[in-house]
Amino acid sequence: MELIDGKKISLQLKEEIAQAVAERKEKGLKIPHLAVILVGEDGGSQTYVNMKVKACEFVGFKSTKIDYPVTVSEEELLNKIREFNNDSDVDGLLVQLPLPKHISDEKVIDTIDQSKDVDGFHPISMGKLVAGLPTFLPATPAGIMELLDRYNIETEGKHCVVLGRSHIVGTPMTLLMSRKAKPGNATVTMCHSRTKNIAEITRQADIIIAALGSPEFVKADMVKEGAVVIDVGTTRVKSDQTKSGWKLKGDVAFDEVKDKTSYITPVPGGVGPMTIASLLKNTLMAVEMKGK
Ligand code: GUN
Repeated sequence: MELIDGKKISLQLKEEIAQAVAERKEKGLKIPHLAVILVGEDGGSQTYVNMKVKACEFVGFKSTKIDYPVTVSEEELLNKIREFNNDSDVDGLLVQLPLPKHISDEKVIDTIDQSKDVDGFHPISMGKLVAGLPTFLPATPAGIMELLDRYNIETEGKHCVVLGRSHIVGTPMTLLMSRKAKPGNATVTMCHSRTKNIAEITRQADIIIAALGSPEFVKADMVKEGAVVIDVGTTRVKSDQTKSGWKLKGDVAFDEVKDKTSYITPVPGGVGPMTIASLLKNTLMAVEMKGK
């Protein structure tokens, strides 16, 4: 069994991006600028947004963070998005999800200019992904593809089982693993909450990508000997072993599964750190695509 070290690979990726930014500076090209909007005071979202801003600093990007109280109106938020859309200095723009109930996720995502949609959530970005056209890839699936690539894990002709059908992970993951590319060219089965006999299907998998948000769902008897297991789960559970009182639990029962696998991602330190690195990569791509 080899542990896939997402922390190490994400650092490599960030260093490569920092190098690209330094080269842009030398050539007098534009420094990438990411704008992030946070609504409300959800602890998890605040942490993620702060990590995104810090990562921008690390690679030398400019960043702007806007904090709104949970009571902000939908119109005020949409107007801020339009303002960033029209600001030629801003290359990438994202609104941290989830949003309060009185604000429509759909309207917010639709309002973001697709050329700045570094989350890859805009319907045009999704449509391009389905059509196999170059576009911003959602950060988590892009991070997983990067891990498979950098660990030289063979995917061609393999049976990949994706657990979960979310727009953010399961669906784009299924598309990326099946497309004609490297990594890719896999035969993909997508399972979800209504799938019957999930264990029977996962036992046939050469690669399992677990993204259902159900802690320790994947048990040892669901995994074939030698399989590659990618764990996307990050459920926060109460713990008396950590200072914060919380710990992250993956969708895989790591301790019982690990010895059956050829490669496995830990939680934390596997897929998680890759998502922010992918967001930075998309922001760099946004500025490069403009030829600025
Ligand atoms: N909330 C959880 N993950 C994400 C993400 O990748 N982007 C945004 N905008 N919000 C999120």
